[in-house]
Amino acid sequence: MKGVLILPILLVAAAAAGADPQAPAVLEGFGGAAEPSAAALYAEFCAGCHGQDPVPLSGGPYPALFGNPQIAAAGAVYVAVKALHGTGNMYPLCAFASDAEIAAIANYLAAANAHQGAPLSVEAVAPLRPAAGDCPVSH
Ligand code: HEC
Repeated sequence: MKGVLILPILLVAAAAAGADPQAPAVLEGFGGAAEPSAAALYAEFCAGCHGQDPVPLSGGPYPALFGNPQIAAAGAVYVAVKALHGTGNMYPLCAFASDAEIAAIANYLAAANAHQGAPLSVEAVAPLRPAAGDCPVSH
């Protein structure tokens, strides 16, 4: 359950970093770059529940997103839709991640699972978002 506790801390840290170009120490671990890498975005938004690559999660309610046959077959659009709308016990991340962040994470996971399709463009993310009013801002 450690991940569940870490995620809100990372989200608060990310919000603080957005307002302040002097990123706090926790974000410097992501490379200190103004544009975090896709791996850093995965770590920020997803790893708290889904685990870090390449460490697989054993048991528990969170499916591994590396070596994942669904992502291998369906690729970045599948990841983006799950992330934006939530699924089962996973709350929607639509209110917390930008189109660029979603595209980066979705393409990162599609590539990590050797999906063969074209990458998802940033512009293609907006139409995948839930309708206005259907995106909870808290969880
Ligand atoms: C708060 C915990 C939590 C966070 C944060 C989270 N997820 Fe999930 N995710 C889950 C749970 C739980 C499931 C399983 C849902 C179910 O089937 O009940 C899941 C399922 C998924 C699935 C479907 C997996 C499959 O095998 O079909 C995908 C894809 C996914 N998450 C992507 C993401 C991405 C991408 C992020 C980050 C942007 C993310 N998740 C962040 C908890 C989380």
